[in-house]
Amino acid sequence: MRGIILAGGRGTRLYPATLAVSKQLLPVFDKPMIYYPLSILMLAGIREILIITTPRDLPAFEALLGDGSAFGLSLSYAEQAEPSGLPEAFVIGERFLDGQGCALILGDNLFHGDQLGTRCREAAARSSGATVFAYQVTDPGRYGVVSFEPDGTVTSIEEKPAAPKTNWAVTGLYFCDPEVVSIAKGLEPSARGETEIVDVLNAYRARGDLTVSLLGRGNVWLDTGTHDSLYEASSFVRAIELRSGVKIACPEEIGLQLGYLDRATILNRATQMGVTDYGNYLRKMAV
Ligand code: TTP
Repeated sequence: MRGIILAGGRGTRLYPATLAVSKQLLPVFDKPMIYYPLSILMLAGIREILIITTPRDLPAFEALLGDGSAFGLSLSYAEQAEPSGLPEAFVIGERFLDGQGCALILGDNLFHGDQLGTRCREAAARSSGATVFAYQVTDPGRYGVVSFEPDGTVTSIEEKPAAPKTNWAVTGLYFCDPEVVSIAKGLEPSARGETEIVDVLNAYRARGDLTVSLLGRGNVWLDTGTHDSLYEASSFVRAIELRSGVKIACPEEIGLQLGYLDRATILNRATQMGVTDYGNYLRKMAV
């Protein structure tokens, strides 16, 4: 399975902060936002990752992440000319996927919690169908809302329903089998002029091949799309990191744990970071 991070969009809700800079490059406390979804794909055991972003922002992502070797990954990049829908990621990524399944994560979604890696690896191990992750929210009508049987089989997914059947929102993390490319290619734009991820998921549901993985109390799913939610996400990360001394979404640390990186590489990286908290954290790891 390969991974795609969709990190384009206009970020209009964050203007003026995003007039000249991609939202997904803004910091969430001590690191760029894209480190968070990148870490999730790493925890899922995925090493080949495509980053899709706007023509304007692509050089900045490349400058930040390079070929991925600093994290033990193989990273590549592609442009999305216009934000014409999430499913376009699968079409843009067709050659990169090369007939393999795909884990798609949105570049502005922040997940944290117990067992998240295990849950992602379980989803990645399913050879057919699709898996979505759902999270309980107080305002489900703002999201895709999923209903399901006790065994996790999805019975309905509705986009921004006026009367939500459950309070389980569909998050921005999707594991799909190789069929996803042809499903995405067959979609028509919705009334708002974009292709919709819900239509991809409903195609899987129609064939009884859509599973939901519920992220329960021990997990956090945060949005970072508005000034308030970005601030709250930063505060959350800061609180956990200061209290525990352990970083959320440090890709070098995950790379070391997974055996992709050796201590010498981490030490080099620490030197590059200078005398910052992040640099010191890497230095501690390298001894
Ligand atoms: P949105 O929240 O729909 O859009 P946005 O982030 O550009 O923000 P705004 O509403 O403030 O203008 O997108 C969710 C995520 O998906 C975000 O990370 C951007 C990304 N995205 C793309 O990269 N391409 C697309 O075609 C769409 C629809 C979204």
